[in-house]
Amino acid sequence: MKALILYHSKTGFTQRYAEWIAEETDADCESFDHRDGIRFGDYDAVLFGSSVHAATILKLKWFKRQIPDWEGKRLAVFAVGAMPLSSGTPVEQLFAQNLTAEERRRVATFYLPGGLDYERMGAVDRAMMAIFRKMLAGKKARTPDEEAALKAISSSYDASDRRAIAPIVRWLARDEQ
Ligand SMILES: Cc1cc2nc3c(=O)[nH]c(=O)nc-3n(C[C@H](O)[C@H](O)[C@H](O)COP(=O)(O)O)c2cc1C
Repeated sequence: MKALILYHSKTGFTQRYAEWIAEETDADCESFDHRDGIRFGDYDAVLFGSSVHAATILKLKWFKRQIPDWEGKRLAVFAVGAMPLSSGTPVEQLFAQNLTAEERRRVATFYLPGGLDYERMGAVDRAMMAIFRKMLAGKKARTPDEEAALKAISSSYDASDRRAIAPIVRWLARDEQ
């Protein structure tokens, strides 16, 4: 089985995960920016990785548009976000909001913890994070989750963990649909 990992990454977290997965499998690894030059017909499986911004998996709409053309291929998505890996319900909600039930039957979904890198972040994203921080800081009563989020986003951090790719490596090693 020939597999492709196609990743979209703004500050490098998703790219690092894509490269870790490629190191542990014999999958090819390509940036989303190079998608026009890729011969998708050569692949039996496509694993699409991208980061979460404002509860949206970036460029996922593009990936979903390809599904009708990719009949017979095994398909999966991994999303990289600031949420910790343990947050079960928010992760389920994320995929329920970004894929229809039918799409979720067709596409395997995985979540990986990323981080925040203010140095590599673009100006617009930095400004959005500042608004989010102000909004949380201005709340009179913060839930424990909001309190933790406010602390986490006050500076850059890296929660990426190579061990978290294990379920994806297993998925790629399987042969069935
Ligand atoms: C403007 C902005 C919005 C974000 N929104 C979310 C979000 O809704 N949920 C989440 O888990 N992470 C969110 N994040 C965190 C990113 O998903 C995280 O930084 C990720 O590791 C980035 O991966 P990348 O460097 O591959 O793009 C947001 C980050 C930015 C800059």
